Order: sequence, then C-alpha cells, then structure tokens
Amino acid sequence: MDSAALSRIGLAGLAVMGQNLALNIAEKGFPISVYNRTATKVDETLSRAAAEGDLPVSGHRSPRDFVLSIRRPRSVIILVKAGPPVDQTIAALSPFLDPGDSIIDGGNEWYEHTERRLREASARGLLYLGMGVSGGEDGARHGPSLMPGGHLQAYRNVEDVLARAAAQVDDGPCVTFVGEGGAGNFVKMVHNGIEYGDMQLIAEAYDVLRSAGGLSNAELAAVFDDWNRGELESFLVEITSDIFRVPDEHGGGELVDKILDKTGMKGTGKWTVQQAAELSVAAPTIAASLDSRYLSALKDERVAASDTLDSAGMPPGLLLPAARPVDKKRLVDDVRQALYASKICSYAQGMNLLRAKSDEKGWNLNLGELARIWKGGCIIRARFLDRIKQAYERNRSLPNLIVDPEFAREMVQRQPAWRRVVGLAIEAGIGAPGMSASLAYFDTYRRARLPANLVQAQRDYFGAHTYERVDRPGSFHTEWSKIARQSKAGVLN
Ligand SMILES: *[C@@H]1O[C@H](CO)[C@@H](O)[C@H](O)[C@H]1NC(C)=O
Ligand SMILES: *[C@@H]1O[C@H](CO)[C@@H](O)[C@H](O)[C@H]1NC(C)=O
Repeated sequence: MDSAALSRIGLAGLAVMGQNLALNIAEKGFPISVYNRTATKVDETLSRAAAEGDLPVSGHRSPRDFVLSIRRPRSVIILVKAGPPVDQTIAALSPFLDPGDSIIDGGNEWYEHTERRLREASARGLLYLGMGVSGGEDGARHGPSLMPGGHLQAYRNVEDVLARAAAQVDDGPCVTFVGEGGAGNFVKMVHNGIEYGDMQLIAEAYDVLRSAGGLSNAELAAVFDDWNRGELESFLVEITSDIFRVPDEHGGGELVDKILDKTGMKGTGKWTVQQAAELSVAAPTIAASLDSRYLSALKDERVAASDTLDSAGMPPGLLLPAARPVDKKRLVDDVRQALYASKICSYAQGMNLLRAKSDEKGWNLNLGELARIWKGGCIIRARFLDRIKQAYERNRSLPNLIVDPEFAREMVQRQPAWRRVVGLAIEAGIGAPGMSASLAYFDTYRRARLPANLVQAQRDYFGAHTYERVDRPGSFHTEWSKIARQSKAGVLN
C-alpha cells in the first residue's frame, strides 16, 4: 500500500461507541482504519461511513491488514468491554505493531489494569494510553469529553486528532493529558461517581417535589426546564425535563411512572466509593447514591417491608400534618437551592478523592483543568463546572470547594432553603439520602468542634489508644474506669 493511502489512526472494537467515535474522527478529516473480529461490524461501520457523508473510513478483517493500514508511528484506539477483551485485543494486534506505536484503550477500565498493560507495552517498546471517554453514544459521535492518561508521547502523537474529535467549549476542546499511569481511567471513574451523585440528587429533588409538593409530570417538566436556564444548567437537568414529557405508549399518563424503580449499575460508582475508603477521603454523597441503587434493587423486599410496617401501625402516605398547606412556588425554589448546594458538596468529595489519589501516585492532577474538560461532551457537563474551574485557578491548593470564597458565599446563602428541604423530607418520611449526606458533610466540615472528643475518650477507655488535648501538646492516657469508679464512690459517700 503506498504511504499516502495509509490511515492517520486506527480503531478496533465496533460496537456502537466504537463505530460512533470512528465516524466522528473521520468526519473531522482524519482517515481512519477500523477493525472488528466480527466482519458484519466492519460492514456496518463502512455503510454508515458512506451514508453519513462519504467519510474516510477503511475497513479491515484481519488484525494484520488493519495494523499495516495505519501510518507510523501508529496509534490504535481500542473500544471493547473492559477486562479480558482488552488483553485479547492487545494480544491480537501487538504482533504487528512496531516500537513507537501506541495503543489507546477507550474503555471504562480499572486503572490498575491500565498500569499493568502500560508496563507490558513499555517492555515491547510500545506506548500506551488509558483514555476515559464520556458522553455516551451521542457524545462519541458528535464530541465526547476525553480523559487520556499514560505515556505523554502517545498523547502527543494523537493530540491533533483528539482535539478535533472532542467536544468544543468556549475555552477549548474537552481533552487534556490527565497524567501518567492509570490517571485517565481513574479520573473517568471519579467522573462516573460524581455522575451517580448528580443523578441521585436530581431523583431526590423529583421525589420531594412530586411527593410533598404534589407536582404533576407536566409541572416537573416545566420546573426542570426553568432550572436548566439558571445555575443548574446541565445535561442531566435537561434530559430530566425531557423524560417527564414522554407519554406512555401502553396507556395513559407518562412513561416515567411506569418504569420499575430499580436502578442498574456497571461498577465505576462502586470503585469510586471503594477508592474513597482506601484513601480515607469522605465521599458520603457518592456513597449514598450507590447505597440507594443497592436498596432500589431490593424491590420485592421493599414491597413486603412496606406491608409489614403498615401492619405494625405505620401511618399511610406522607407523615405531614394534613392541615399544613405546601406552597409549591416556595418549595420549588427551595429544592433548586438544596440541589445546587448538595451538588457542590458532591463535587467537593469527588475532587478531593482525585487530589488524594494524585498525591499518592504523583500524578500531579490539575483539578481546574479536569473541571474544564467536563464542561462539554460528558454526562456531568454543566454550567457550574466553569465556576469549579475558576475556583481551582484562584487557588490550586484549595482544600475543599466549600471554602472557595465564592462557593462559600453561595453555600451560606442557600443553607436555609437546603435545611428546609432536608427537614421536610425527613419529617414527611421521604428520605433524601444524597441531600442529607451533603448537608451533614457541610455541617461536619464547617464546624470547628465535633463530638470526636468523646469517641477518642471511648477509644482510650477500652483500648488505651491515647488522646491529644486541646490545651497542651503531647499524647495522654487516662485510667478512665478506675477514676470514674472512685468518683462514683465519692459521690455516693
Ligand atoms: C467485535 O464485535 C463483537 C460483537 O459485537 C464484540 O464482542 C468484539 O469485542 C468486537 N471487537 C473486536 C476487537 O473484535
Ligand atoms: C488557598 O486556600 C487555603 C484554604 O482556604 C488558604 O489557606 C490559602 O491561603 C489559599 N491560597 C491562596 C493562594 O489563596
């Protein structure tokens, strides 16, 4: 093949995400070679390439032809299921790759697998990137948020391609070199954890408005539309508004009311919470969103529990005094503020998790830049990510988003409404685990003195773990039970 005919880049793994990313890259003017073990997938991609504007895509049915059709140094994106399929695809392609060529895994891979593959690739002179790709199928086709990490040179080799394929926002393409090793996958994992938090918080806002406020789906659609024009403007708020408008084709009303209340998951949220525990970083909002998915899965148990507790005397319906009218307009405004403040706490947790991992691994993550590449393309894209970017630009070592002067002011302004919403939910028996966790996080973080003194005293009492004092340096141990016995005796005498 003459070298002018060679492709700029290759992509292996032609499920919908892979097809869409390949077409996106081709559409930006980069000739791309595609490969899939299943030949029909290749044909499907080629006919889409023809139909969607005669895009420069060349299809290959053997790993060898595929690899040899790419210009050197070659860059090959792999988009297959995380885990063993990635190793199998690498094994199929590597015999034909030359030193200096790069493998780019675009799946939701566990970051340690990427670090192993990076070492294996290095041993063969190959370069490697683990690249988070967010935005779903539509993002892949029209501009995702890309989080590549690993070998910097591998990134440099495809920087022009990624910059054009990524979503574009006012301050550039939604891609940056995240860091070394598995940094790209780790950042994508935390992005997904934050996404879990956002979705849970929105669901709780819906529950309070629907259950306590009595809002209809049409009213909810209008409320979310309105929110999407202000500080809550985001992809998830926008699609939520759409969801309330879709009628049920099998009967009256809206489809949303017919959907079984059981949430699925694929694992990145669980990994995020596990990593938070490993790194001793509090992430209660993200953990609450994961727990909510676990509890949602127990549908049959919940239905049975509802019966059992009804029989045990649980009053039916909401636990609010019937006489108290709900001011819908005020409730909507309160919930908007509660959602915003809760979100800030959730993002603070995710960002602090990223910082802790960055410190442990020496990744030198730039949190402001990560907020920037999440402004477009990805599922958590939102107007307020620009504010987060600015907060970290103002102060790169900001210990928590809550103490950025602007966010601090916003939290203080919103906390009365936030407390009203969480209080109402608790009183009504609705339960709002994400919003409650965020509020408790805020109240715990902002209070200079916590009841941890008592826990430490208990630890010293039964385990001689010692304690520090507020008024003098050093560590101390007290014979608590002996002294308490003496003083009890003293009181009795
Ligand atoms: C090709 O397609 C099949 C079926 O969609 C998929 O399971 C497989 O992982 C794909 N990728 C490669 C590299 O063959
Ligand atoms: C960054 O924030 C911390 C905590 O609020 C503060 O101590 C530090 O002085 C700030 N640094 C800058 C450059 O503003």
